Amino acid sequence: MSSLVITIDGPAASGKSTVARLLAERLGASFLDTGAMYRAVTLAAIEAGVDMNDEDKLPGVLDNRKFQFAVREGKMVVCIDGLDVTEQIRSQEVTANARYVASAAKLREKLVEMQRQFAAREKKIVVEGRDQGTVAFPDAGVKFYLTADATERAKRRQIELRARGSSENLDQIQNAIEERDKSDEDRAVGPLKPAEDAIVIDTTDLSIEEVVEKLLRYVEERCQKRNQK
Ligand code: DC
Repeated sequence: MSSLVITIDGPAASGKSTVARLLAERLGASFLDTGAMYRAVTLAAIEAGVDMNDEDKLPGVLDNRKFQFAVREGKMVVCIDGLDVTEQIRSQEVTANARYVASAAKLREKLVEMQRQFAAREKKIVVEGRDQGTVAFPDAGVKFYLTADATERAKRRQIELRARGSSENLDQIQNAIEERDKSDEDRAVGPLKPAEDAIVIDTTDLSIEEVVEKLLRYVEERCQKRNQK
């Protein structure tokens, strides 16, 4: 069982994955990018030609293929039936279709269960997503919610996309991000929202390093308080 679970939730391109990875490194903890799980199921559903609007068919995708999520050399590696799909799950097609998978209630239940099993194998873990502090780990030791304004998030995403050879303009990227925010927030199951006891941090004017340092200070503070009890 984990002795420390730290959750980081927040909207698309708020820097959660990078921050979670770096925070985990500093704490000697494992980490889990739960978005990669939704993306992997989305890729498998596309490959199987499943109707994305058919909520009842989507859980079958998870049962029919073998999904593996592991952290290797500080990187989240995803395999489906033994094939490494870590890069493929970042494609625009997967990104655009992930919202259907994310809205399928039964599938979410299964993924949340897998997330809990993954965490239970680690002593310390940083988990990031949309519903980690609210649904998956309501008793987590420290909960964070990262936000940033949409224009800043679009700029950050543009830098990432350029590195992959994509030339979308800032407006297109920002529109897509705002659409994803709306779909994440309006979903009936596991919607994007801060847990009541989450520490909310606006990262608009902060560098990744500054965010990591800030989070580290909160974690240290909480752990000290816990040890004093
Ligand atoms: O964080 P990301 O962009 O890799 O997430 C991919 C998709 O999965 C996105 O549509 C939001 C969804 N998601 C979710 O619904 N719940 C999570 N815990 C993580 C991601």
